[in-house]
Amino acid sequence: MWGPEGLDEVEAELLGPPEELKGKDVLEIGAGAAQCSRWLAAQGARPVALDLSHRQLQHALRIGGSFPLVCADAGALPFADASFDLACSAYGALPFVADPALVLREVHRVLRPGGRFVFSATHPIRWAFPDEPGPEGLTVSASYFDRTPYVEQDDDGRAVYVEHHRTLGDRIRDIVASGLRLVDLVEPEWPSWNTAEWGGWSPLRGNLIPGTAIYVCERDRGRD
Ligand SMILES: C[S@@+](CC[C@H](N)C(=O)[O-])C[C@H]1O[C@@H](n2cnc3c(N)ncnc32)[C@H](O)[C@@H]1O
Repeated sequence: MWGPEGLDEVEAELLGPPEELKGKDVLEIGAGAAQCSRWLAAQGARPVALDLSHRQLQHALRIGGSFPLVCADAGALPFADASFDLACSAYGALPFVADPALVLREVHRVLRPGGRFVFSATHPIRWAFPDEPGPEGLTVSASYFDRTPYVEQDDDGRAVYVEHHRTLGDRIRDIVASGLRLVDLVEPEWPSWNTAEWGGWSPLRGNLIPGTAIYVCERDRGRD
């Protein structure tokens, strides 16, 4: 599943036709409980699920699956160059790191020539709106251009949740600078079957403004 709209890979085929996933080495970045890796393994791919959070990987372990779980930072991937045919991330790592360009460079390094990286994140336009599912979530309240991170702190003033904003231009610039090529930018529309309201996500907002951006990138086949 690429995002709260409910677009799934069976429908989107952003990693390629499911029948071509068989035998492919796939890195899932910011895997959380590794639901994408579990689906990839069921298609015959050879996923590796990576997350910084040991706790998330414990959930992955509890749910089960016969693929490696790796606890590491997406900005320092513990893999040799050209180790994977594909990489993917559904809202993993990239929105939460101060230097997403570093993650993209790392993904470029571990992908084989011609390899593909597909990642989703909150659509940058959402930064300008309150994170509310109702009509109050439809009025611009902040600058789209303000890159100050959103930070939640505990009682001792320690950051417990941080989300970084990149404008659409920033994201594209980071992708291009990493050496990857952007081949598509998918903005899933809110489907009529999805009546769920969750956090700031709702049919009301989903029908009017995009919520998720999915970046489809490739590493060139030649030497780069
Ligand atoms: C919103 S969750 C998405 C999880 C999963 N992909 C999903 O679709 O449910 C974001 C995940 O990114 C992970 N993450 C955040 N920063 C990371 C980093 N620097 N390296 C690797 N994983 C990171 C978090 O631990 C968390 O599991």
